[in-house]
Amino acid sequence: MKRREIHAVTGAFGYTGKYIATLLLERGVEVITLTNSPDRPNPFEGEVKAFPFNFHNPEALAQSLTGVKVLYNTYWVRFNHIEFTHNEAVDNTRILFHAAKNAGVERIVHISITNPDKDSPLEYFSGKAKLEEELMKSGLIYSVIRVAVLFGKEDILINNIAWTLRKFPLFGVFGDGEYRLEPLYVGDLAQIAVEQGGGAGRVLRWTQLARSLSLTENWSRQLAI
Ligand SMILES: NC(=O)c1ccc[n+]([C@@H]2O[C@H](COP(=O)([O-])OP(=O)(O)OC[C@H]3O[C@@H](n4cnc5c(N)ncnc54)[C@H](OP(=O)(O)O)[C@@H]3O)[C@@H](O)[C@H]2O)c1
Repeated sequence: MKRREIHAVTGAFGYTGKYIATLLLERGVEVITLTNSPDRPNPFEGEVKAFPFNFHNPEALAQSLTGVKVLYNTYWVRFNHIEFTHNEAVDNTRILFHAAKNAGVERIVHISITNPDKDSPLEYFSGKAKLEEELMKSGLIYSVIRVAVLFGKEDILINNIAWTLRKFPLFGVFGDGEYRLEPLYVGDLAQIAVEQGGGAGRVLRWTQLARSLSLTENWSRQLAI
């Protein structure tokens, strides 16, 4: 019998990772996860085996990724905090990329942000730009998916804004209110990610979700390496 492909998803018990893992399981792929929360309730009833990130032990991290064909990387921290910073997330992600390469992972699907910029004063954006560059130089086959903001049942930001709009007569916005946001449904992101993970051949694919209100509106360009 043919052995099932193994794909690794970071944070499969979290937000985007859960949607990606669900789709992969539906497609018959074996899924493992790298997580900071191995003891969190496993929504997949034990179907997804959890391994710690082991950033302090890259050999152990590479060992966890042995046999994995595709890695979907959602790992990041949302804001700087006394216990975790964007800079640490950049360093940890570099370790993750190196471990993936050493383990023989064939492809990385990396979730980034719109307008990453190494010169941005915002570490979220400069850090994401550094990681995209790192991935491009790594020699790995990769896809970068740039997302503006996600919405979905488990989301906090958009759902809290919606709750405030429902409950309060006034809602403050910056500037003249003409600021435009291009949200993407978390399930659509998962679909794009899984499609990218299933790509064949040595292809560098860059998916820019500049107009990501629906899947049909996103565009991508492909460059042969
Ligand atoms: N949410 C959005 O609206 C949005 C918008 C644009 C881009 N993105 C990008 O999408 C990706 C996934 O975002 P998400 O909202 O789905 O993230 P998430 O599920 O909250 O977390 C993704 C991964 O990062 C780990 N992580 C998060 N915060 C951490 C912390 N403080 N310390 C240590 N590990 C931490 C999680 O650990 P556990 O495994 O322990 O859960 C998980 O493995 C990120 O790269 C983000 O930049 C998200």
